[in-house]
Amino acid sequence: MEEPSAEQLLEEKSGQSYWDTRYKDKTAVWDIGEVSPPLRSYIDKIEDKNLHILIPGCGNTYEAEYLLQQGFKQVTVIDIAPTLVEKLKDKFAGNIHIQIILGDFFTQQGQYDLILEQTFFCALPPRMRPHYAAKMHSLLKQGGKLAGVLFNCSFEGGPPFGAYQEEYEALFKEAFHFNVMEPCRNSIAPRANNELMFELKKNAEVLVQRYVFKGITCNGCKQTVTDKFSAIEGVLNVCMSGDFSEVLIVSKKEIALLELQSSIAYDARYSISKAD
Ligand SMILES: C[S@@+](CC[C@H](N)C(=O)[O-])C[C@H]1O[C@@H](n2cnc3c(N)ncnc32)[C@H](O)[C@@H]1O
Repeated sequence: MEEPSAEQLLEEKSGQSYWDTRYKDKTAVWDIGEVSPPLRSYIDKIEDKNLHILIPGCGNTYEAEYLLQQGFKQVTVIDIAPTLVEKLKDKFAGNIHIQIILGDFFTQQGQYDLILEQTFFCALPPRMRPHYAAKMHSLLKQGGKLAGVLFNCSFEGGPPFGAYQEEYEALFKEAFHFNVMEPCRNSIAPRANNELMFELKKNAEVLVQRYVFKGITCNGCKQTVTDKFSAIEGVLNVCMSGDFSEVLIVSKKEIALLELQSSIAYDARYSISKAD
């Protein structure tokens, strides 16, 4: 039998059954058993208990539990793993201040004041990072914030898939205002010196669009294409995924697809189309 490709292996490690099995087998090694100290400190500073708060890839969601204990009234959590979500529904049964959703974060609709990040970004295959940034932008209200903890290190294989501060800066640039992105001072011991605390505010003045790209095979070409798109009037930031399959374009105004296509017409192998 043929060995699975690296892409197939990665796909297996990002799907619903991969995550559900982690909860079924009790191999959720990322679970720290308590609200993470940086998020606890962050939550302690929020005064408005009526904020609509979303926690994607919530896991056992000690963060939501803590929010509810502190009197927050509109908490939504979402996770793709049915075994986990069933358990959460039992745990929070009868609590009208929390909505528990079984589903894929990327298909969710809604508008939130605050989205809390805690080891969800690192659970996603790196090619999904442009999608993550675009989806976060679309789910936030004007003035809404994305905040939490991100790894600032690399890992062998994955998940978790690590990243460094400069990669986050390149990804979120212009779509968000960087209120805070700095080394975490109160990480749990095993993650000390490897985490960033961050708070990004949605830039509601811009359009954030995601495109499927085909034809690039090397970083040099990626840079050339990025430069071409960046040179288009109105484009503020271009971020292509590490596997060259997706591009995030942040702009002041709508950029016609034809204009993007024309700018890469110099190479017949390249194509760009709007992502779903
Ligand atoms: C590394 S775990 C982190 C869980 C929790 N935030 C924590 O810190 O304990 C990643 C979580 O994201 C969930 N997940 C993965 N892909 C998802 C998706 N597309 N939509 C919603 N949840 C997803 C997994 O089921 C898992 O619970």
